[in-house]
Amino acid sequence: MTELSALSTENRRFDPPPELAANANVTADAYDHASKDRLAWWEVQASRLQWDRGWDRVLEWQRPYAKWFVGGELNASVNCLDRHVDAGLGDRVAFHWVGEPAGDRRDISYAELLAEVSRCANALTELGVGRGDRVCIYLPMIPEAAVAMLACARVGAAHSVVFGGFSAQALIDRITDADAKLVITSDGGYRRGAPSALKPAVDEAVLQCPSVEHVLVVRRTGQDVTWTDKDLWWSDVVDRQPATHQAQSFDAENPLFLLYTSGTTGKPKGILHTTGGYLTQVAWTHWAVFDLKPETDVYWCTADIGWVTGHSYAVYGPLANAATSVMYEGTPDAGGKDRWWSIIEEFKVSILYTAPTAIRTFMKWGDDLPGAHDLSSLRVLGSVGEPINPEAWIWYRDVIGGGRCPIVDTWWQTETGAMMISPLPGVTSCKPGSAMGPLPGIAVDVVNDAGESRKAGFLTLNEPWPSMLRGIWGDEDRYRETYWSRFEGRYFAGDGAKWDDDEVLWLLGRVDDVMNVSGHRISTTEVESALVSHPSVAEAAVVGANDATTGQAIVAFVTVKGSVADDVSSGEAFAKELRDHVAKEIGPIAKPRQILITPELPKTRSGKIMRRLLRDVAEHRELGDVTTLADPTVVNAINEKMGQQTAAPPA
Ligand code: WTA
Repeated sequence: MTELSALSTENRRFDPPPELAANANVTADAYDHASKDRLAWWEVQASRLQWDRGWDRVLEWQRPYAKWFVGGELNASVNCLDRHVDAGLGDRVAFHWVGEPAGDRRDISYAELLAEVSRCANALTELGVGRGDRVCIYLPMIPEAAVAMLACARVGAAHSVVFGGFSAQALIDRITDADAKLVITSDGGYRRGAPSALKPAVDEAVLQCPSVEHVLVVRRTGQDVTWTDKDLWWSDVVDRQPATHQAQSFDAENPLFLLYTSGTTGKPKGILHTTGGYLTQVAWTHWAVFDLKPETDVYWCTADIGWVTGHSYAVYGPLANAATSVMYEGTPDAGGKDRWWSIIEEFKVSILYTAPTAIRTFMKWGDDLPGAHDLSSLRVLGSVGEPINPEAWIWYRDVIGGGRCPIVDTWWQTETGAMMISPLPGVTSCKPGSAMGPLPGIAVDVVNDAGESRKAGFLTLNEPWPSMLRGIWGDEDRYRETYWSRFEGRYFAGDGAKWDDDEVLWLLGRVDDVMNVSGHRISTTEVESALVSHPSVAEAAVVGANDATTGQAIVAFVTVKGSVADDVSSGEAFAKELRDHVAKEIGPIAKPRQILITPELPKTRSGKIMRRLLRDVAEHRELGDVTTLADPTVVNAINEKMGQQTAAPPA
């Protein structure tokens, strides 16, 4: 509540720079056009793409299923590559790729990218992969990652990218659910100055995934790999293919990709996106929200392709708009904590799109690091993934943007496919920390429990949008239940939101059991099931506690089985073992910051774990109402123990 009232007193405003406003791609009349005829307006945006067959109807809406640009046909890869080369832009750089080791780099033009994607598409065809298939991509941030995605799109197969930081078990779950035929991976990638292996996780997964017929392996680090009869080197299979490929057009609703994201249960959801509507909204928002001038801008989205931001704004959006992008393989501190700033200086990056957790980390590292570099090329700054606190917003604007650059705080989700709520850099007068309001063509409503419009409550979307998810892969019931059942006729986003007195919208974080750690969605249940799969653990409760750098941090409360001796369970080695176990089950990003071993968990009389109280404990707050607890002394004991536990051990 204190946070809420603090936000509503935020009265600072930052107008668009006059020069940017005067030349902006999108002006204020976009809102009027879109609200007069929303569908006609989206049709205009769809016309920015190259269609091989025009659509018959713009929208077919049978709640909760939407079809956009019905009857239209296109190829996403052609839209990202061929049409630009045909227009004479073949020599333009698509990616300035920067590897983690110093000096490791490649500039890839649109013509070169088209040739490489064509080879890869030919290879996919040779391997029997085509329309109706799924391909799992498990790669570091190397050019082959984008090539593989676009090659799948080119042959009509859906890709399912799995973040390289996920474990073998997470890979098994995702390959199995999607029934993937092919896995594309590499020996490894560079992380923090050293090669980090990827192939062993794939080896382990393939043993348990009979659907996988082949594994295509990029040689990146040169480290030793185990070889099986399903494995093929990328260099053996892709490099010898013809550099041309005649792409077929596909229906606007042909699946483009699946991307797994955490829900409120232990099982991740395969979010399904299709082609025409997705590409329309992604391309338009990328052009409008960043005010992209493809001839002169150098754009850098720092997200990994393992997340939706990497799909929409590191691959499909910028390529559909013929933009020049930076792609960087490594961590922000590899080769010095100013690595990002030296990249921006070197390539004269003009648009930077990153996450609040990174911004807060840089704040902690100090102003001197960016201060030592010439960042004057920057003109628009973007933020995504979690609410950005006003302090970080101001720092981003002043220290990184030199006080000149508008900040676009963009709210969206894996499910929405593209940006939904965001300022427009040449139009909106921004308040620090707010995503301001819905983009043209998007309808939002903040409602109470009963679904009635209110100033504060749950964020809902009340009209279908082109890049909306088309379902959860293989689970229609869960799709209806998760998004469309809570509020009649509306999409429930899972976020809280509030309109302030100036009709400005503030996003307030998740209202369900999903945590947001460094901008990554992780469900409490998923971590709990990982913990209880450890042989010594009896029960586990996981909560997200506020954290100054990562937004939220994972705090786990664990009870151990009677057979485990006290001196074992109380030791730091045991907590470490549990953290490593979670890393093995899900991935290092899901490692709890803190694990508290406790004799009991606080439960209601009906046996429900009181997470609210555990959150109070984890955030060192005064305990809330304990009267519904079966045994009120339990939570005091936990609280005391929390007090005794010294500083949080490193993750
Ligand atoms: C949160 C990432 C506040 C939100 C694109 C959402 C944000 C979840 C913002 C989706 C923002 C994302 N302000 N919160 N600008 N952007 N979120 O699927 O809770 O990884 O529901 O998509 O991140 O995370 P996802």
